[in-house]
Formats: sequence, C-alpha cells, structure tokens
Amino acid sequence: MLLLGPPGAGKGTIAEALVRGAGVVHLSTGDMLREAVRQGSDVGRQAETFMKRGELVPDPVIVRMVEERFQVGAGGGTYLLDGFPRTLEQARLLEASLARQRALVNLAFLLEAPEELLIQRLTGRRTCRRCGANYHVTNIPPKRPGICDLCGSELQQRPDDREETIRKRLEVYRRETEPLIRYYERQGVLVRIDSSRPLADTVAELIRYLEPAAQES
Ligand code: AP5
Repeated sequence: MLLLGPPGAGKGTIAEALVRGAGVVHLSTGDMLREAVRQGSDVGRQAETFMKRGELVPDPVIVRMVEERFQVGAGGGTYLLDGFPRTLEQARLLEASLARQRALVNLAFLLEAPEELLIQRLTGRRTCRRCGANYHVTNIPPKRPGICDLCGSELQQRPDDREETIRKRLEVYRRETEPLIRYYERQGVLVRIDSSRPLADTVAELIRYLEPAAQES
C-alpha cells in the first residue's frame, strides 16, 4: 500500500499509528534518506543538498536505495510505502520491481488537507533526535516540552521545515508527484482520505480499508 500526499499531510504520523494498530511494515524513503545523511553514507552525501533545498533526490539514487531495502518476499505481510513513489518514473520502476516479486499495489491512499494547514503542521513539527517519533508543538504535544515521551531524548526541528523550504517542497509536490494521482486512479486503487480531521478519525478510516486488503495479500 502507498501513502501519497503533500508534505505535512500526515503520512509519517499515520504510518506510525498503522504500524501500532494494524501491524503493517512501514518503509519511508524520507526516513531512510535522513538516516543515510546522519551516517554520512554515499547515498546520504548525494541526497543532503537536494533535501536541504526542498527538492527531490534524483530517481536513480532513490531506486537503488529502495531496491536494497524492499524485498516483499523476504518478510511477507503488508507493506506501507510512505513518500515513495514520488515521480512517474519511480512509480513505473516500483511496478516492474513488484511484478518480479509477484506483488502489486493494492491501495494508494491520497491524504488531502488545505495548504494553510500543511504549513501550520510543518512549522510546528518536532521529531525525536534518537527514535524519530513525531510530535507537533500544539496539535500533538509531548508530555514535557521538547522531550520525547517514548525515549526521553531531545526533540528537534527538521532543517527542511523552515517556511520558505516548505513552500518549495509544496511546489515540487504539485509538479512532480501530483501526476501520480491520475496514474493510480487509472489503476483503480486510489482512495482519497480527508487528512484535515483529528488524527484518530483518519487512522480509524484507514484501518477499515486495511483489514480486507490485508486478508487478500
Ligand atoms: P519526507 O520525509 O517524505 O517528507 P515529506 O513528503 O515532505 O513529508 P513530511 O514528512 O514533511 O510530512 P508528512 O506527510 O509525513 O507529515 P507528518 O506526519 O510528519 O521527504 C523529505 C525529503 O526527502 C524530500 O523533500 C526529498 O528531498 C527527499 N525524498 C524523500 N523521498 C523521496 C523520493 N521518493 N524521491 C525523491 N526524493 C525523496 O505530519 C506533519 C506534522 O503535522 C507533524 O508535526 C504531525 O504531528 C502533525 N499532524 C499530522 N497529522 C495530524 C492530524 N491529523 N492532526 C493534527 N496534527 C497532525
């Protein structure tokens, strides 16, 4: 299954909830890239400049990284891809890779929310330095300000969450990623989800879709 949607639509937050509530395996290319940057690997060095500018990391770098980590047969079960694919080229490569593994995209959830809300969410987002847990200063605050509820480490703001970089990311989303909406609509797997509601309502709706799809896989 795929989670599509603009920056700030709640992809990462909803994926975390689905891992806990529905036992899916979550793969986020954004998280993989941030980890590669932290480790200073080849992929991390190639990706960092693009990420800081709010641009997409080139397709060949992404595809190599995903192929190394994503083998459906290896674990079985239901995979939730967050932030991948993000271009038509990535979507075609994913389809070819899944066909080789006798798998397919069952559902592509499109999370939708108004632009002012996306900006408000991203400027207020804080993530845990150590375990990566996601918070929002007002919407989903930690129990103690600036401290992760789960592991007690310090919370930080992502370098690409400054307002001008957020606007750039939204522009890149409209240009590069929105064409995927039509792509998955044509395949009959696109499901539009109103992600401007309280998190629990959005997650409950997704879980209703996941149950029959998980039984089919
Ligand atoms: P990535 O990490 O994927 O970032 P993104 O798509 O811009 O999405 P975000 O993580 O910013 O938002 P989200 O939708 O996950 O929202 P979240 O749940 O955090 O990618 C980063 C960069 O990596 C890209 O710019 C690009 O350079 C590169 N990259 C990654 N994948 C790539 C690919 N395939 N190809 C090329 N380049 C790639 O929520 C946001 C905030 O809102 C949080 O604070 C949360 O607590 C709050 N919130 C969420 N939902 C709710 C709700 N319902 N109510 C109240 N608050 C909420």
